[in-house]
Amino acid sequence: MNILLLGSGGREAAIAWKISQSPLCSKLFIGPGNGGTDAFGTNVDLKPTDFPAIEKFCRDNGVNLIIVGNEDPLVAGIRDYFAEKMPEMLLVGPAADGAALEGSKDFAKQFMQRHGIPTAAYRSFTAETIEDGCKFLETLKAPYVLKADGLAAGKGVLIISDLKEAQDSLREMLGGMFGKASATVVIEEFLSGIECSVFVLTDGHGQYRILPVAKDYKRIGEGDTGLNTGGMGAVSPVPFADAEFMKKVEDRIVLPTVNGLIKDGIDYRGFIFLGLINVGGEPMVIEYNVRMGDPETEAVMPRIASDLLPALVAVAKGDLADVKAEEDPRTAVTVMAVSGGYPGSYPKGKLMSGLENVTDSLLFHAGTAKNEDGQLVTAGGRVIAATSYGSDIPSAAAKSFAAIKAIDFDGKYFRRDIAADLC
Ligand code: AMP
Ligand code: GLY
Repeated sequence: MNILLLGSGGREAAIAWKISQSPLCSKLFIGPGNGGTDAFGTNVDLKPTDFPAIEKFCRDNGVNLIIVGNEDPLVAGIRDYFAEKMPEMLLVGPAADGAALEGSKDFAKQFMQRHGIPTAAYRSFTAETIEDGCKFLETLKAPYVLKADGLAAGKGVLIISDLKEAQDSLREMLGGMFGKASATVVIEEFLSGIECSVFVLTDGHGQYRILPVAKDYKRIGEGDTGLNTGGMGAVSPVPFADAEFMKKVEDRIVLPTVNGLIKDGIDYRGFIFLGLINVGGEPMVIEYNVRMGDPETEAVMPRIASDLLPALVAVAKGDLADVKAEEDPRTAVTVMAVSGGYPGSYPKGKLMSGLENVTDSLLFHAGTAKNEDGQLVTAGGRVIAATSYGSDIPSAAAKSFAAIKAIDFDGKYFRRDIAADLC
């Protein structure tokens, strides 16, 4: 079959790597892709939120399946668009009603409350209820967690230790700090624990498969210090997410989520990303996303031993019953190389070299491009990820660090402590 994968990050590179290996894959297009995804298919100049252009491309190129990598097109209703214009198209990703699990934190919290899914206590406020919000903050213990309701490019969560500062931030958020995204603000109880990411594929009819669990490293600095980033590395599996913990995740979170969607009349066909926190052995939901994580995908895809494409087709068709999802028993560790200055401003267009010296790791390009001379250059904050297998975390991590060291570009930075906390 002919497949169009939408997105341009390391996540899409890892998905492209995985599905290009499937005997079911005839042609793979990546729209727009990056400087490395053309190793697995054909990059096409498409914007993932330009639905009419995507439709035209699909008609012209006989695309049978669309896989949506990032959240924006899902929240903007790409599934709804194709259901109307090209109902025969298979598509992996929820319609706008399901994508609201990521697109609106208030909706996600109400969903969890309605279906008894463990999460932090919360209340939501708008400009009309600012004073109530300030009083509510006084009833909570520090630190205070303030979340913009809508999509804010991963920047919409503030964690503040001072009450007065939290009240001021609430006023600023409701005053338009994140534009429309913070017209509603969720204030919630702070949860203390270690986080992990659980990925579920579900078909809208009660069948689901839990994919390999991962942990990502969000802060720019070693020892989890400094600013939040899109993610500096990942590891899979996660030692504390053992069988007992995962049984709790399945019973208390996955099943009520999958069944809750059905009860609410939401035909959800796609990935559900559960951002979880382990609070004294009990899993609680920090957030839902409606896509795979980045860079978790770069560690998760290599750990899926079975062919993923039949599972994605089954999800799109709404029947996962006969599909297997097998795990590779090895550990995978992903280390991300980023541009100097990231997550603040950073230069682009730096020449990259040394990739050919990496033989023991998988390389997933993220912010890379080819310049006019066909040379590989940096084109984003997160530039390239190296994923390696090992029998344990230290052996996998050592290979990924060596791979990232072998790659050169001006300003390269990476964290040397990815997964070290779990050893
Ligand atoms: P989110 O965008 O919802 O993933 O939030 C970003 C990060 O903020 C999460 O990955 C957590 O590290 C942190 N966070 C969010 N909500 C809470 C909470 N209720 N308690 C503690 N940390 C939180
Ligand atoms: N790594 C976290 C995310 O993709 O949102």
